[in-house]
Amino acid sequence: TCTRTCTPICCTIMKILVVGGGGREHAITWKLASDTCNPVIYCAPGNAGTAGIATNLDIGAEDLDSLVAWARENQPNLTIVGPEAPLCKGLVNMLSDLGLPAFGPMMDAAQLEGSKVFAKEIMDAAGVPTAKSGSFSDVEGAIAYVKEVGAPVVVKADGLAAGKGVMMCSTEAEALAAINNVMLDRLFGGAGNQVLIEEMLVGEEASILALVDGESVVMLASSQDHKRAFDHDEGPNTGGMGAYSPAPVVTDELWPLIKEAVFDRTLAELRKRGIIYKGVLYAGVMVTQDGPKVLEFNCRFGDPETQAVLARLDSDLTPALMACVNGDLTDELVAWKSEPSVCVVMASGGYPGSYEKGKAIDGLQDAGSMDDVVVFHAGTSTDGEDVVTSGGRVLGVTALGSNVEGAAAQAYAAVGKIQFEKAQYRKDIAARAIGRA
Ligand code: AMP
Ligand code: GLY
Repeated sequence: TCTRTCTPICCTIMKILVVGGGGREHAITWKLASDTCNPVIYCAPGNAGTAGIATNLDIGAEDLDSLVAWARENQPNLTIVGPEAPLCKGLVNMLSDLGLPAFGPMMDAAQLEGSKVFAKEIMDAAGVPTAKSGSFSDVEGAIAYVKEVGAPVVVKADGLAAGKGVMMCSTEAEALAAINNVMLDRLFGGAGNQVLIEEMLVGEEASILALVDGESVVMLASSQDHKRAFDHDEGPNTGGMGAYSPAPVVTDELWPLIKEAVFDRTLAELRKRGIIYKGVLYAGVMVTQDGPKVLEFNCRFGDPETQAVLARLDSDLTPALMACVNGDLTDELVAWKSEPSVCVVMASGGYPGSYEKGKAIDGLQDAGSMDDVVVFHAGTSTDGEDVVTSGGRVLGVTALGSNVEGAAAQAYAAVGKIQFEKAQYRKDIAARAIGRA
């Protein structure tokens, strides 16, 4: 029986639907699968990693109608929505309308990620520390602003752009070209209806994820992503090539400051506007000389941050997520292992540009049976007996260690046992934290 007080049903059979099929969703599913209440888990669509611990459904994460139809028929006790697109399109609203508990913000609250202009408006109104900026729906206004403030600036398409809508511009000419790309050439489609132009911040980044139940906030262990494709933060931006937790740049002193100045203020401002945030709120923060400033909000768990963070979660996940839905979240629901974690992403050669799929992956068993190692799948699928690559980011090889150096060594030892044609990964994940230690 369940030793915790999630819901009465949890002690009988808890049926959980996880929406998504990346590394984040495998990590969530892996953690749920080890929970005391032993839930029955379905993933839509899942990947070859979730297939071993859950039932994969042949439904895409953005196929809202099919997801809702499945949920209506199967009545899951909890649905956890991984990616931003279904959240911004209102999947949680649709499920809630049917009386089905769903973890994640409703459409209005998900706009914190869905619209960078909206997020900035909330931050500015709430007094949340963030980069100075201007928002524009006309090209002339945007150009005039760049000429007024000068370079360097960061040009951001307002809407969802699969992580590609942010352009760091070191000269005025680059900024003007970026504005043209976003607003006139519509490189990111409708995401370019508006543009946000921001001061360029200097410092070290960290990801802070918090559980929110509409009122209470419980911050999860800090982490740091590695967005660039190649070692030493070179090459193009990616979805994230690795992560570690905790991030030492988020010192104990910064912790209460971030809680109050970032999460409490933002949620209070939303409430003032009649918007209730439930789910996980992810603040991408730059720790500058003037303190932490918010770069972006995401309305979901980070990927690959979740792999590093959940590897360290000592308490059960189901009750904490249920508490967010039910509005009774408390600090006691979340406990951490003291060991740091490191997650190294193995990607397909060519990622984030074009890459081939269908490469057989060897060594998964060997790597996965090492002490303190979990191999999270991302872009994988099964082809007969084989596990094959099916996406850009293929695996998130994650390890715990007695210190961050040990965790990284163990993660890389596991990476060394895995082979697929043209595998590509960074060799310096967690180097910054190791350097500090
Ligand atoms: P975003 O999607 O807004 O987080 O932007 C993606 C990445 O661009 C961030 O992780 C930062 O590395 C960088 N970035 C975004 N905004 C700024 C800024 N104002 N100053 C410096 N770097 C930024
Ligand atoms: N790793 C960055 C993100 O999830 O947005």
